[in-house]
Amino acid sequence: MKIKRFDDKAALYAYAARLITQLLQEKPDCTLGFATGSTPIGIYEQLVSLYSQGRVSFAKALSFNLDEYVGLSGSHPQSYRQYMLQHLFRHTDFNPRNIYIPDGMAADLEAECQRYDSLLEEHPIDLQLLGIGHNGHIGFNEPGHALTARTHLVTLEPETRAANARFFHSEDEVPRQAITMGMGSILKARSILLVVTGADKAAVVSEALAGSISTACPASLLQTHADVTVLLDRDAGRELHDSSL
Ligand code: GLP
Repeated sequence: MKIKRFDDKAALYAYAARLITQLLQEKPDCTLGFATGSTPIGIYEQLVSLYSQGRVSFAKALSFNLDEYVGLSGSHPQSYRQYMLQHLFRHTDFNPRNIYIPDGMAADLEAECQRYDSLLEEHPIDLQLLGIGHNGHIGFNEPGHALTARTHLVTLEPETRAANARFFHSEDEVPRQAITMGMGSILKARSILLVVTGADKAAVVSEALAGSISTACPASLLQTHADVTVLLDRDAGRELHDSSL
């Protein structure tokens, strides 16, 4: 696991965007795994800016998103499809046919999970971008006694719904379920880029990266992957001491 610390978020976002751009230059038809939440927004802004300067193209790339809320259509302003359109896809040359996001309105949600897994098998992810929840969740893989390897339906923890309520008018509007790639699918990515900012994530960063590997902290499973790069701002990294790694 490579850990890089940054004094300011702007430098961190620029570095992450550079890594993604480098991959696109080496392999224009690469498959990118994208995440939502507030953390990656600065990276997407950088990618849009590099694209508008003509320094990168996404025309041949494929993209897969980690998760989607159940019960929100792709046109709902808080759906992750809209998030991706708003922050990245609409402003770049991604081919809409190459954009994959689970359908949270599918009539048969189990079949939708299987369909998504088959697509992932067909198109292995070259680089998976990740954020982390305060409880150590990755995508929507919530802590528990057991984790599911493949794409599956999940009931969101009250803590996760409360954390995501800021994007909705009220907590009641936050969907109770989501479809998420499983930890097994995520760990199949050739490389993983975990990005964490803010003091409120300092404790979970240290638990995930320096604690024991446990389903109680899904992000701790990243310790088992051979190619993980972690980008931390000063606040997020303040409880993680090099001696504990
Ligand atoms: C959501 C997403 C996760 C994301 C997490 C943290 O739950 N499903 O993929 O990592 O939020 O979001 P934020 O970056 O806003 O703290």
